[in-house]
Amino acid sequence: MAGMAVNIAAERHRMITYTKPPHPREYRLIFKNVDREGWDASIDCYLRDGGYAELKQAMGMQPKEITEEVKKSGLRGRGGAGFPTGMKWTFIPPNNTKPVYLICNCDESEPGTFKDRYIVHQDPHQLLEGMVISAYAVGAHTAYIYVREEFPQAALILERAIEEARARNFLGSNVLGSGFDVEIYVHRGAGAYICGEETGLIESLEGKRPYPRIKPPYFPAALGLYMCPTIVNNVESLCHVKHVIRMGGDEYAKLGVPRNTGTRLLCVSGDVRNPGYFEIEVGKLTMRELLYDLCGGPKDGREFKAVIPGGSSAKILRCDETYTLKNPDGSSRELTFWDIPLDFDTIAACGSMAGSGGVIVMDNSRKMSWVLNNLNAFYAHESCGQCTPCREGSTWMKKISDRLVSGDAAPADLTTLESVAYQIDGQTVCAFGEASSWPVKAIIAKFRDELLADTRADAAAEPHNPEAAAQRRYLQPAR
Ligand SMILES: Cc1cc2nc3c(=O)[nH]c(=O)nc-3n(C[C@H](O)[C@H](O)[C@H](O)COP(=O)(O)O)c2cc1C
Ligand code: SF4
Repeated sequence: MAGMAVNIAAERHRMITYTKPPHPREYRLIFKNVDREGWDASIDCYLRDGGYAELKQAMGMQPKEITEEVKKSGLRGRGGAGFPTGMKWTFIPPNNTKPVYLICNCDESEPGTFKDRYIVHQDPHQLLEGMVISAYAVGAHTAYIYVREEFPQAALILERAIEEARARNFLGSNVLGSGFDVEIYVHRGAGAYICGEETGLIESLEGKRPYPRIKPPYFPAALGLYMCPTIVNNVESLCHVKHVIRMGGDEYAKLGVPRNTGTRLLCVSGDVRNPGYFEIEVGKLTMRELLYDLCGGPKDGREFKAVIPGGSSAKILRCDETYTLKNPDGSSRELTFWDIPLDFDTIAACGSMAGSGGVIVMDNSRKMSWVLNNLNAFYAHESCGQCTPCREGSTWMKKISDRLVSGDAAPADLTTLESVAYQIDGQTVCAFGEASSWPVKAIIAKFRDELLADTRADAAAEPHNPEAAAQRRYLQPAR
C-alpha cells in the first residue's frame, strides 16, 4: 500500500514540471502548485487548472454533508494541536441563533514553521476555495484571514485574490447562484506570537490587546468572535477541505495511516544538507527517511544530535533515544528515534508532538545550553504577560540560561530552572505556558550532563553580574 501511494505521487509529479522538483517520496496535494513551472497566483491561472470546481461541487451539497465528508476524511488540524477538523465544526451549538464566523489562522509564528506563507504567496485561491466551502459547511457568512504582521506581501496577495474571486462570484452574495452569501476579509496581525493562539487572535481581531481567553468557557466554537460561535482553522487545514470534497472523505482517508490521514507539510530547518518544505503522506515516512532521503543527511563531518519535530513548542527528541510504546492489544514494543513514523500519534507517544510541522534539526556542533537559551529568549520575549507564572517564569528561565551560555551558572541553577518550568506548566491561561516550559524540561532531562559541564562549581556563591558575563561571553573563542 505504501509503495503504491508513492507511485501515484510520482505519477502526479511527472505530469507537472517544477522549478524546484519535489522529492519522489513526496505526495503533493496542498503544494501541488508551489514552485510549479508557469504557475502564478492569478485566478486565471487557477481556473485553467480546474480551480473552483470543488466549490461548484460543494454548492450542490447540503452543509451537513460537507461536514460529514470532512469527518470521514479524518482530517486533523495542521495548526498545532492536531484536533479533528470535522469534529470541531460540530461543536457549534445546534440551537445557535447568533452569527457564525470562520477565521483562517495565517499567523504562522511558531519558530521553525514556514508552510502557510508559501500557500498564500503561490496559491491563494486554493485557500479561498477551501474557506468558502468551509464557511458554507459551518454556516458562516463572514470569514476573516488573520495574517501575520510580518507577511505584508501575503496580505496584498490575498486582497487581490479576494477581489478576483468576488468578480467571478466565487464569494460575495449568492455564490454561484446558490443563495449562499459570504464575505472574506483580510486582517493584518499585531506582530506577536500569541496572536496565533486562537483566543488571543480573536481578541486581537476585536481590536484589543491579544490576551488569550480562558477555556472553558471561551471555546471559540461556542463563544468566539464577539461572543458568537467561531471556527478557527489553520491555512493548511482549510486547503485540505477542498481536496476532501474532490476525493470524498473515504478516499482521502486512504492517504496516510489510520487516525493520521491525508498529507501534511513539513518544514525542515537547521543542520541538514537540504532543508526546506516537503509534503508527505502522514505516517508513511520515518524520521530516518525524512532526514537522510529527503533532507540529504547531516553536513560533512557532522552527526545528527537532536530534533524538535513540530515547532519550537514541541519537546526535543534525542537521535539516540529508544521509546517503549504500547500496542493496541496491551503489549509493548521498542522503537528507535530513527524509526518513528511521522504521524501525530506516534510522535506524541514518543513524548513530543507533530505540532505545526516545523522540524528543527541540530547536529553535534550545537551546544544545548545555546539551544535552550535561544528558545527561552523567544518565549520570554513573546509572553503576553497576562498571567504571572508565564510572564515572570519565562523571563527567569531566560535569565538563568543566559548564565549558562556565558559560563556564569552554578550547577544548582539547573534545578532552579527545572523548578520554574514545572511551576509554569498547567498554571496558565493558555498553552503558551506549557510551550515555554516543555523545551526547558525536555532539554534538562535529556542533556543534563552536557548542561552541567557548562556550569561552574564556584559560581553558586557569586551574585550574577551581567556586565562581567557579557564580557566573558565576548572573550570566549568562537565555537
Ligand atoms: C502560543 C500559540 C501559538 C499558536 N500559533 C498558531 C499559528 O501561528 N498558526 C496556527 O494555525 N495555529 C496556531 N496555534 C494553534 C491555534 O490556537 C489553533 O489551535 C489553530 O489555529 C486551530 O487550527 P487547526 O484546528 O486547523 O489546527 C497556536 C497555539 C498557541 C498555544
Ligand atoms: S500563558 Fe503566557 S502567553 Fe498565555 S495568557 Fe498567560 S501570560 Fe499570556
